[in-house]
Amino acid sequence: MATREDVLRELKLAPEWRLRGRAEPGTAEARSSDGSATPAAREGGGTVDADLRRARIAALGWEAFDADVAACTACGLCRARNKTVPGVGDRDADWLFVGEGPGAEEDAKGEPFVGQAGRLLDSMLGALGMRRGERVYIANVVKCRPPGNRAPEPGEAEACRPYLERQIALIRPKLVVALGKSAASLLLGTDATIASLRGRAHRYGGIPLVVTYHPAYLLRSLPEKAKAWEDLLFARRVASSDPPPPPAGA
Ligand code: URA
Ligand code: SF4
Repeated sequence: MATREDVLRELKLAPEWRLRGRAEPGTAEARSSDGSATPAAREGGGTVDADLRRARIAALGWEAFDADVAACTACGLCRARNKTVPGVGDRDADWLFVGEGPGAEEDAKGEPFVGQAGRLLDSMLGALGMRRGERVYIANVVKCRPPGNRAPEPGEAEACRPYLERQIALIRPKLVVALGKSAASLLLGTDATIASLRGRAHRYGGIPLVVTYHPAYLLRSLPEKAKAWEDLLFARRVASSDPPPPPAGA
């Protein structure tokens, strides 16, 4: 029969387990040699632990945010990642772009949208007179690369949701732009297509939210580029009309 150590090693959780044990000397965790829960189960499994994790992340400040993500083992995507990709940009941004998840280049660099799709996103920002890092923040639904660039599974997106929620709460953007299906599904709780969601102002926790195609999809589908551009112009109108500007002379 496999020992607990074998299982942890197979799940590639053993190093984290030891690190955490060392980091918290004297705790029950550190002393336990027959612990019943793996780190992953502790982080994301039981309801109480999941609630504790959510509460901890909901109280994170920026100074602790990236390191918390880097230590996260709450979903299986932690196993194949090289670098976590928490997000980049202006922490007082007016616009928050939410993509899907890191690809190979992002996983190597630790920064979102640095590959081909990222260059397209940068040129679209440029066309709007904006730049990465200036009044703009860029994040993803999941902070670790899904193997083979597949879309995150719903369980992975849910496991990572507290981080995105915390980013939104810290940034308090005027507008969220959901890039593609993964972001739109997670933030709006719908399975509807991008085609049916674009062109309208939605809301996420009181913040206006606009949906458009994911840049990687635009690279493959030229006609949709024009639609995405329309979406960004629409987004700009939404961003500048909410809250409504004060009446002239007020
Ligand atoms: N695609 C995404 O959704 N996010 C990235 O960071 C890169 C590519
Ligand atoms: Fe944690 Fe998110 Fe990475 Fe999953 S994708 S391990 S929830 S940081």
